Amino acid sequence: MNEYIFATKVTTACPCNCAFCSNRKQAHKKRESNGTLAIDLFEEYCKAIVNVGGKYICLSGGEPTLLSNLEEYIKVAKKYDLVVRVNTNGWGVTNERLSSLLDAGLDQIVMSVYSLDKNKMEKIRNREGVFDRAMAALEAIKNAKSTRKFLFIIQTIIMKDNYKEIPDILRVAINVKADIFWPSYLEDAQNNNEANLDEEDILDFTENVLPKMKHCFEKSIENKSIASANIKNCDKLFKPDSLRNDFSMGIYHHGPYDCKLLNRYACLHVNGNLTPCTRYEYNPGEIYFKFTGTDSLKEFFAQCKKPVEEYCKYCPEGEHIGFDFSNNDIDEYSKL
Ligand SMILES: C[S@@+](CC[C@H](N)C(=O)[O-])C[C@H]1O[C@@H](n2cnc3c(N)ncnc32)[C@H](O)[C@@H]1O
Ligand code: SF4
Ligand code: SF4
Repeated sequence: MNEYIFATKVTTACPCNCAFCSNRKQAHKKRESNGTLAIDLFEEYCKAIVNVGGKYICLSGGEPTLLSNLEEYIKVAKKYDLVVRVNTNGWGVTNERLSSLLDAGLDQIVMSVYSLDKNKMEKIRNREGVFDRAMAALEAIKNAKSTRKFLFIIQTIIMKDNYKEIPDILRVAINVKADIFWPSYLEDAQNNNEANLDEEDILDFTENVLPKMKHCFEKSIENKSIASANIKNCDKLFKPDSLRNDFSMGIYHHGPYDCKLLNRYACLHVNGNLTPCTRYEYNPGEIYFKFTGTDSLKEFFAQCKKPVEEYCKYCPEGEHIGFDFSNNDIDEYSKL
């Protein structure tokens, strides 16, 4: 497993306006005037990643597919032999664009899919037209999967509006040949009561939704050992029951948390700031570290040793349950 996880926001722009992402967008807006990461700065970041022994970079945002020259960023990262991932809501993923991104060297795609219902997805995303684009993206990725080699992850957030749909999204993930399904817990849930599951929803999820997920694994995954590993994993979601109340309040950790992300993760923002973990997405706090060049990451990790204390309780990092249903051997950075 590669030690480091490096990310960057290549753009802060996004056509959507998901409510649970708005705090991070506000935080970014306050800090960042420029909306696009300069490609020269990106190349310096790639050099610095190689300099500390990193092998992987995730291009996120905002919505990265809005950048007409996203391919150039991918090519730069490949020049440094990095495994390259793009996070997308599917907005700009057509057959032609996908082919061009893969030709540039893209290794991994994470697509977030929050609903399979047009009205619901567009309500969650706060954007008309996003559903048709997302469905076209899924079709394009499915087609490319038969001829090209890349890792495909479908991510969703388990929330009030969609928790009953999770087995359907899982089924689609299997049908479109995704390698991994990540139903994430909601981050910043303590500020998003409307999106977060209450205790009753969590009970409903564990009693009525999880069995449907298990059934889907049983019926749709031919490899019995992969199916049974995933079925076992289902039982970890929202468990133990004694934490149901905490989950409903967006509390994921108790006491000092020995987070595996610290000292192995960094995110470069368009204004040249580096941030060390999920906390800074929503709650920027006072710690800023300016990226200044090839040696920056060494200095950055030296300064980020202390745990991020009280905010950790609201952060699901380390608690997410992933479902892996392929034997794809592409170098995924980790299976945390
Ligand atoms: C900020 S988005 C950027 C990429 C793209 N716009 C998208 O929506 O997939 C990166 C990832 O963060 C996730 N995300 C955003 N807000 C979140 C939240 N409050 N809790 C958990 N995940 C969240 C999205 O689902 C997505 O997988
Ligand atoms: S589409 Fe992605 S970046 Fe845009 S608001 Fe939603 S989660 Fe945030
Ligand atoms: S807030 Fe805490 S748990 Fe979350 S990523 Fe940061 S250090 Fe880890």
